Amino acid sequence: MKKTITILATLALVALAVSCNKSKDEYGYTIKDNQIVYNTPARPADQQSMLGFACDPIENVRVGFVGLGMRGPGAVERFCYLEDATIVALCDLYPERVESAQQILDRHGIARAAEYSGEEGYKELCAREDIDLVYLAVPWQLHTPIAVYAMEHGKHVAIEVPAATSIKECWDLVNTSERTRKHCMMLENCCYDFFELTCLNMIQQGVFGDIVHVEGAYCHNLEPYWDRYQGDWRMTYNKDHHGDVYPTHGIGPICEDLNIHRGDKMDILVAMDTDAFNGQAMADKRYGEGAVKYANGDNTMTCIRTHNGKSILVEHNVVTPRPYNRMYQVTGTKGFANKYPNEGLALGSENIQFTAIDNLDAEEYMSDADRDALMAAYEHPISKGIAEKAREVGGHGGMDFIMDYRLIYCLHHGLPLDQDVYDAAEWSSLVELTEVSINHGSMPVVMPDFTRGEWNKLKGVNFALVEE
Ligand SMILES: NC(=O)c1ccc[n+]([C@@H]2O[C@H](COP(=O)([O-])OP(=O)(O)OC[C@H]3O[C@@H](n4cnc5c(N)ncnc54)[C@H](O)[C@@H]3O)[C@@H](O)[C@H]2O)c1
Repeated sequence: MKKTITILATLALVALAVSCNKSKDEYGYTIKDNQIVYNTPARPADQQSMLGFACDPIENVRVGFVGLGMRGPGAVERFCYLEDATIVALCDLYPERVESAQQILDRHGIARAAEYSGEEGYKELCAREDIDLVYLAVPWQLHTPIAVYAMEHGKHVAIEVPAATSIKECWDLVNTSERTRKHCMMLENCCYDFFELTCLNMIQQGVFGDIVHVEGAYCHNLEPYWDRYQGDWRMTYNKDHHGDVYPTHGIGPICEDLNIHRGDKMDILVAMDTDAFNGQAMADKRYGEGAVKYANGDNTMTCIRTHNGKSILVEHNVVTPRPYNRMYQVTGTKGFANKYPNEGLALGSENIQFTAIDNLDAEEYMSDADRDALMAAYEHPISKGIAEKAREVGGHGGMDFIMDYRLIYCLHHGLPLDQDVYDAAEWSSLVELTEVSINHGSMPVVMPDFTRGEWNKLKGVNFALVEE
């Protein structure tokens, strides 16, 4: 009897240890003092940091595209305008989508590219010797496996957002990029929108003083699109997961504003979500009443505190009928910027004074004319000269073209890319970290440091330009 009790007690202790240390693997976490603490595994001896990494200049960047659904063909179209790039290969699960993309090249009078299709067509594409860069616009779950495969086969990679769906995948990207010395850039296009770029420049010139708080979001009613994702991948992912499953449009630009891993780092995260009101109704309609339990909350909020004492708020909502909003809000000691619904700047009212206790208008936005003049004066150096063409070529109003242009510009000139593999990992890490926080009743998460202690080595975000 005593022996049985001892065995049962031991088993209970083991079960408790397993539940408190959900994963003891090097990419997992333990729970200590009511905090979820992620491990930062040591860097293997055959790897080097990719901070500030630049490869030799590539005269003409030869590109292979994988994933030609709703997003991919737009990238193919934009690359037709980039002089220092050549479209060498096109790949999708379905040959007819490859054919449609070929027709984009036809319309531009450009030679047709090599074609690959099927689930493993990307492997043949990656085996080619004449490709420098693999550009991925496939479903989320395929981003990291294909990117890792491409880097292992000697290619730089550019990956649609989010680059990874788990902490393990984030480390896979970091480790593979560090070991192969290949660029791994996530295609976070929202970092290149005009308002965000100009604000970043203003922040770097001290216009807003010290930045104390930033906000970002992805609030986009996806109702018209759900049926169009290949194999229902997006709905499937949302239905199976809590958390901010699409955080990078919100977190990307504001991390640049805070110099994350270039002088500051994200330390602690707490996430909370609502129930899945519309989400569950949508799932009932789609899969049958009560057939599935829809996990993703209609609204998910994430708060993060940085090492230097700044705060970040990120939101995700893709199921309620509200106007598109990426929030983008910057609060500094001397000023404020806000993008949605109207772009506004406030630099502190000079004549702020007490009028009446219920006067809420003492602090106000500057006039539209003053804002426009200031925005023009602080246009970011990387959009100067390319803004007009970007607006003409398009892609979310031009930001997509600036992103692609910058990627090819940096590769062509052998410069560090604007976004490195640590950005990709940090911004994508929210996918798992928010889910884990929510699954533990909004428990704080000590975030992993993908730079492995080197977050203060670079000083400030820098968009490299060739010296005139
Ligand atoms: N940055 C942005 O603004 C933005 C906008 C839209 C989509 N995206 C991202 O782009 C990616 C693609 O989204 P989408 O809307 O085009 O989805 P989609 O479902 O329309 O397209 C995905 C494509 O990948 C193909 N595919 C699937 N498995 C493949 C495989 N093994 N090999 C090759 N191709 C394969 C599918 O056939 C499909 O054509 C997602 O990561 C999404 O988050 C980003």
